[in-house]
Amino acid sequence: MLKTFYITTPIYYVNDVPHIGHAYTTIAADVLARYHRQMGHDVFFLTGLDEHGQKVQQAAEKAGIDPQAHCNKLAPRFQELWKRLNISNNAFIRTTDPKHKAYVQKTLQALYDKELIHRADYTGWYCTFDERFWTEKDVVGGLCPDCKRPVERLSESNYFFRMSQYQRRLITYIQEHPDYIRPHTRMNEVLGFLQKPLEDLSISRPKSRLSWGIELPFDADYVTYVWFDALVNYVSALDYLTPEPSFKKYWASHSTESAAEHTVIHLVGKDILTTHAVYWSTMLMALEQALPTTLFAHGWWTVEGEKMSKSRGNVVDPNAIVDEFGVDPFRYFLLREVPFGQDGDFSREAMIGRINSELANDLGNLLNRSLTMIERFVQGMVPAHAHAADTEMERHLRKTTEHLFASVERHLISLEFNRALEAIWELVQLGNQYIDKSAPWTLAKKAEDKARLQTVLYHGAEAMRILSLTLYPFMPQAAQEIVKQLGLTVDLSNPDPDELNWGFLQPGTKIAKGNPLFPRIETATKTQGETRVDQDKQPAPASTDQITIDDFKKISLRVGKILAAERVPKSTKLLKLQVDIGAEQRQVVAGIGTKYAPEDLVGKRVVVVANLKPAKLMGVESQGMVLAAGEEEVSALLTTIEDVAPGSKIK
Ligand code: MSP
Repeated sequence: MLKTFYITTPIYYVNDVPHIGHAYTTIAADVLARYHRQMGHDVFFLTGLDEHGQKVQQAAEKAGIDPQAHCNKLAPRFQELWKRLNISNNAFIRTTDPKHKAYVQKTLQALYDKELIHRADYTGWYCTFDERFWTEKDVVGGLCPDCKRPVERLSESNYFFRMSQYQRRLITYIQEHPDYIRPHTRMNEVLGFLQKPLEDLSISRPKSRLSWGIELPFDADYVTYVWFDALVNYVSALDYLTPEPSFKKYWASHSTESAAEHTVIHLVGKDILTTHAVYWSTMLMALEQALPTTLFAHGWWTVEGEKMSKSRGNVVDPNAIVDEFGVDPFRYFLLREVPFGQDGDFSREAMIGRINSELANDLGNLLNRSLTMIERFVQGMVPAHAHAADTEMERHLRKTTEHLFASVERHLISLEFNRALEAIWELVQLGNQYIDKSAPWTLAKKAEDKARLQTVLYHGAEAMRILSLTLYPFMPQAAQEIVKQLGLTVDLSNPDPDELNWGFLQPGTKIAKGNPLFPRIETATKTQGETRVDQDKQPAPASTDQITIDDFKKISLRVGKILAAERVPKSTKLLKLQVDIGAEQRQVVAGIGTKYAPEDLVGKRVVVVANLKPAKLMGVESQGMVLAAGEEEVSALLTTIEDVAPGSKIK
């Protein structure tokens, strides 16, 4: 039977400037939606904007325009960001949509007719910013417990939803459905909150105070409270934003005998869990509707260790991050850095660290070296492979790819995005180790090793293809680029079942190697040259400054063959060298231009530090260093006595 998934983000305040918090939940929801669609499930993914309420009214007044015009002006900020972040939402709700308004009114009327909404006079402490009343015991020192702004004493006649009468039922429901509120620590918080008597919920605001909202169908002097309006959109959207009204399909049926086939997930931030777990759950009970399968409350991001806030001026604009680092690294970072549910810290440094090590070094390098070797050793075509030439390593690699789908599924069903990525990276690392150990560059030298060489190159490429399928929900563009470079035209969003099997990649496929997927990000404030100059000035190490053999082994030294050399413009000292180091070609900038002419160097063998962090020298990228003797000035380049193969290890 077809499984359905209804996935929602919060309905964001249109007046807010979109920030990393909004992007976080929306990207997480997108990963889930893409994953389940990829698995052939029927997904409906909703996001949208909460456009009513006092803040919008005030902002519109300030701007001197009508609130609807104000909303129309602001809404594209979110819509455009979602496009940029490749968010695949099926619908975008705006609470000012007439169809949504009519649905909210219908809901209010239904509850009113059932006498679940009543009118009462109420005196309490009102927080204008949060647009809500607080009781005597909530308010400490005259301040709102939530936003810490001063509250005012207000007596008002309002309409109340009889929330209190659902208190016991809600507690029992939560206890009997341990996966309803997640993570489980949050469930305990909600149960703790429900220990105190639950009051009825004021769901109206007199128009004299706030007119920008949905009018109560039974009293034209009032509009409804923004939260009542916004929460109802989760079901109103299914009534009018789907191709055909789909409440039954995506929601109601999940309370029937086929419950396991229908999943409803609301992703929310931890600060808005109570409104969902208590207000929304009791509203649904009053409407005699099933509750969602899961309310998942994620944690909050701080920025460089500080709370993100407008007053601190440290609000992270997702557009700026995407400009600097690209969409997929941003999507990857948010879901990899912090377990969903926990708080985390955003910093450029942490982001650059992950891009350079996990995306550029691990994933990008695996693709790059696999394709480079296919180009170089087997004429750019995926080779045939003989199982007879299999080793234990190949069997292990294949088994790991087969298990990967199951572990990604397990983690994504539990919303453990970071663990799904960790599982994927185990395969990335295994792929790199496999290539290191199999050393195709050595196999390529002997005709009798041809079958082994082909087997290794096939396994590298096929592992990469399987990786692209699992990476797709997280980094859709990059994943699609991987298969393109592998020479395939498949659509990762909708794979055929046989694409999930090892061996789908056909020998003879012409690869189409392109630019590196994830270029390294330079961070050094000092250039490599400057750093080296500093090192040159160090006194010769005293005999006590000894290093161990393990320290020495950290440096990867390789024999390189200079393929091309030219001067770096405007520099007398720097030469730009293209060096073959076996599995790949590196560009190395060296300060040897006063000693050597470029044309004398071509064909020479040199010693290359192959694992040096790349750096820019006079704006030119250097991906390693060549060794030379000399104090201030270079007096000789180091070379090998025999003409050994490029890539040979130096130990
Ligand atoms: N309009 C309501 C939601 C109604 S849902 C029926 C609302 N809107 S909001 O624009 O304020 O949404 C904010 C969302 O962003 C919340 O889920 C909140 O948890 C999240 N975040 C706000 N700041 C955040 C961080 N610093 N980090 C992570 N998420 C954060 O609330």
